[in-house]
Amino acid sequence: MREWQAIDGLQVAIDGPSGSGKGTVASRLAEEVGLPVLDTGLLYRFVAAVALERDVDLEDEAQLAALSRDLVDQIDWRDDGIFFGGRDYTDRVRGEAVGAGASRVAACEAVRENLLPLQRRRAASGCIMDGRDIGSVVLPDAQAKFFLTASLRERARRRWAQYKSRNPDTDLEQVLLELKMRDQRDAERQHAPLRQAADAIAIDSTTLRADEVVDRMLGVLERRKLIQPVD
Ligand code: DC
Repeated sequence: MREWQAIDGLQVAIDGPSGSGKGTVASRLAEEVGLPVLDTGLLYRFVAAVALERDVDLEDEAQLAALSRDLVDQIDWRDDGIFFGGRDYTDRVRGEAVGAGASRVAACEAVRENLLPLQRRRAASGCIMDGRDIGSVVLPDAQAKFFLTASLRERARRRWAQYKSRNPDTDLEQVLLELKMRDQRDAERQHAPLRQAADAIAIDSTTLRADEVVDRMLGVLERRKLIQPVD
């Protein structure tokens, strides 16, 4: 049984680097308060997956701009994944290669601009949205913003555990190195880089379990009267 009721149209932004636990925490929080969860990383991953399928050069901004413009109206972006042309792309976009491609695609300003209206439209009726620039750019008026962090090693360990279930040969040090490079690209890019919004609450999840992070978030939402217990 759900224990919390959210106010109408509640928007909660959860930003943070790869492996900080945003996805897990966002899903659990959404379940607790009865709101849809929207993972914006899926959008960048999807554009990267299609670009790779079609041999588009990930450094070619004009091609990426045209591709994302053409795709955006046909993306079926749901709580549980991403679909296009009747195909389920959810599993495909979660791989390492697409993740690395997504961080290149996400550095392209035109791609970000093309994906922005879709994100705002979907958030309008209330949601828990996770990404890198949700509190700072996509939903600057969100009633609650969280910035989730964790040490690089702990984040690499989490990603490694995920990848290992698909590929037992995955090497932790290699995952750590790639994560470090992605962090750098996401934080140093010119357009909408990863950064904590001034009014976001930072939570370091290095030594916290996902349910402990969710409890802290619920505490903030309750204190701000954005949720109330269901009787
Ligand atoms: O969260 P993720 O690993 O699924 O994100 C994939 C890439 O997309 C990552 O390199 C950062 C980028 N991204 C972004 O720039 N802005 C977002 N709102 C979400 C993801």
